Amino acid sequence: MNFMGIDLGTSSVKLIIMNEKGNILESVSKNYDISYPEPGWAEQNPEHWWNSTKLGIKELIDKHNIIPESISGISFSGQMHGLVILDKNNEVLMPAILWCDQRTQKQCDYLNMKFGQDKLSEYTGNMALTGFTLPKVLWVKENKPDIYSKIAHIMLPKDYISFKLTGIFATDVTDASGTVMFDVKNRKWSGEMIDLLELDEKVLPEVYESYEVIGTVSKEVSMEIGLSTKTNVIAGAGDQAAGAVGTGTVDSGILSVALGTSGVVFASSEKFNVDKKNRLHSFCHANGRWHQMGVILSAAASLKWWIENVNIDVHGDAFEKLLKEAEDSHVGSNRLLFLPYLIGERTPYNDPYAKGSFIGLNITHNRGDMTRSILEGVCFALRDSLEILKSMNVDMKEVRISGGGSKSRLWRQIVADVFNLNVNLVNSMEGPAYGAAILASVGCKLFNSVDEACASLIKSVEILKPKIENVQKYNRLYKVYSSLYYCLKDKFKEIDDLLM
Ligand code: XUL
Repeated sequence: MNFMGIDLGTSSVKLIIMNEKGNILESVSKNYDISYPEPGWAEQNPEHWWNSTKLGIKELIDKHNIIPESISGISFSGQMHGLVILDKNNEVLMPAILWCDQRTQKQCDYLNMKFGQDKLSEYTGNMALTGFTLPKVLWVKENKPDIYSKIAHIMLPKDYISFKLTGIFATDVTDASGTVMFDVKNRKWSGEMIDLLELDEKVLPEVYESYEVIGTVSKEVSMEIGLSTKTNVIAGAGDQAAGAVGTGTVDSGILSVALGTSGVVFASSEKFNVDKKNRLHSFCHANGRWHQMGVILSAAASLKWWIENVNIDVHGDAFEKLLKEAEDSHVGSNRLLFLPYLIGERTPYNDPYAKGSFIGLNITHNRGDMTRSILEGVCFALRDSLEILKSMNVDMKEVRISGGGSKSRLWRQIVADVFNLNVNLVNSMEGPAYGAAILASVGCKLFNSVDEACASLIKSVEILKPKIENVQKYNRLYKVYSSLYYCLKDKFKEIDDLLM
């Protein structure tokens, strides 16, 4: 028995094949672009996702000699919140509006004020945020009425891939949680939201637990790309829940920290729990329980920006070179702070106008200090979520780390020091794709539960302990860091208005 995990990310789709022992046999990845048609907008064509996924599947099967019949199940991890809409002929009506798109402030204000944040929180466990799906639906209604009137199906990004594979419209509880149309506590579409918005429930996909089978590969797809029609397709999860499964973050006491394009602090919980101010998201987890999480929009994206937009002339492996220079700097980056709000910020400010900033530059600073302050600034931004979790008395014993940024030992140590928690790097560097393959294995009954699968497959590779002298310095710096947004907030907005 083999299992395929497909992680439909923001910059690429990654596909892996895992065997019964949890070993990854092969992996491939196919990149695609994001288009930014207006400042603050971010779109992708769902057809590009599907074409890249098909290429990836073909490559896995042909090039790596995987026997299609050996693949018992396929499941998914997906970039969350994106709006994919199809007409009655199942054709894509417009490019998908992505999780990082910020065009919907007006629609969020309408939802949070018209219905009231309290009511939204009561019905869905969350408030309306610019990244979430429902405000995007309202944006289409207001700005593209012709398209809105043709909507026959609304779905999330990975659900488009499962639809193309099976012909079935389905989503899972974790991804549905990020739509503000889902009753997270009771794990079903919110009747109240659907009534209030006068939506036809038929446009929404059927909801499954992440480890449930939704169907099998269709005949057409089997003929086109060589998969077997006996292969089960399992619902899958949003990237953060899938990533948490991939690191074994399924019990309370463990936090998952993802240093991906976005950055996430994720706490698994036994019970449904809501932050009173809705600063954290309260979503279903992929193991049948719940989780709370805070999301910063530019984690590894901040480093990517620094390398690709500012330090374009660094030759060779720029990532390695710049991180080496950062190692030569010191805790606190020689008194330099960085605010990573390069595309606005989600947790805890929900402010699309927030801007990235270096604070405290002086004539002695060099590039190493600046690179290090980016790593530290991202960790401080994540600590904002940690502080909210602490205020909710969430149990926390260790961090399981994942995402591209976790390849840097320096960055992992900074997380340990800023969080004052052990940081555990586990055997599955593939994160969400591995989580997806685990969900497929549970769907195919190799394991009785997601928790059982994680206990059997996830092993620790390296644990970094916090260094007490660094913890104290970071505690002092964090106090300053967390006050800076409030000093600059109005100016961020003024900068935008000035150039209107
Ligand atoms: C989660 C979130 C991100 C995106 C892209 O709320 O917005 O994890 O799914 O990675």
